[in-house]
Amino acid sequence: MKITVVGAGAVGATCADNIARAQLADDLVLLDIKEGLAEGKAQDMMQTATLLGFDTRITGSTNDYAKTAGSNVVVITSGIPRKPGMTREELIGTNAGIVKGVTQNILQYSPDAIIIVISNPMDTMTYLALTSTGLPKNRIIGMGGTLDSARFKYQLSQHLACSPADLNAIVIGGHGDTTMIPLISKATWNSIPVTQFLSAAQQEQIVSDTMVGGATLTKLLGTSAWYAPGAAGAALVESIVRDEKKLFTCCVSLNGEYGQSDICLGVPVVIGKNGWEKILPLELSETEQAMFNKSAEAVRSMNEVLKTL
Ligand code: LAC
Repeated sequence: MKITVVGAGAVGATCADNIARAQLADDLVLLDIKEGLAEGKAQDMMQTATLLGFDTRITGSTNDYAKTAGSNVVVITSGIPRKPGMTREELIGTNAGIVKGVTQNILQYSPDAIIIVISNPMDTMTYLALTSTGLPKNRIIGMGGTLDSARFKYQLSQHLACSPADLNAIVIGGHGDTTMIPLISKATWNSIPVTQFLSAAQQEQIVSDTMVGGATLTKLLGTSAWYAPGAAGAALVESIVRDEKKLFTCCVSLNGEYGQSDICLGVPVVIGKNGWEKILPLELSETEQAMFNKSAEAVRSMNEVLKTL
């Protein structure tokens, strides 16, 4: 098994670190355009192998895609991150060109790879990766809802004073501060609806804190977060390489599902050896469906910007 992570910044390196620790690959390539950065981080991580007990060979590469040849799964984290006060959408001008180029280079050497897109604005970058390559839709997965759902569970666990591992909760829609939809009506604490334990005001607080989860961290850190984004990317890789068939919310191509087409948006999917294998239906309330449609509208207008670049 060979995995490549493109982008050796904080998210890419953390993702690679998690992949190595979990021994998801024999070969792991970390690639970056910045001279020496990927080689340095790869070497630093390799020096943890005996301490952490993994066998994965990690190789760094400065923009040499030949080193990524034959990868089964590729995670794309390239592009600039948010600065405090910026939306993910503001990154489109810079990141679209980067993601398009990276995807083409990757496919030249790994034509059968499953691609996970983390670069922002993620919903549009996933759509771009799909439409610019013409790859089968199941092989392009946008990582947003997986992270947002983890943040949702964190917020819930704080209010319920419970283990986040006991919670089932998902965020659908776009991966934007105003486009994501934390589905609190469907969230459970080991099958008991969480709404039973939370006042309306608490529920509102949890939903809005989840939606600005990334922005809150960007403000604290001065740049966008990396531990949870990296771990979320690695969790998707794990479900693919071990064919776990785990359910995650991911940004995938919709063709009529949830009433939307010609768009990539976050919905619950099964992730296994073929990429995203199945979209699962959810019974949404009228309000939730309206929110989903509004989210789709916002993402669609962002996708339109691609034509002007
Ligand atoms: C975040 C970035 C990775 O939400 O989109 O932290």
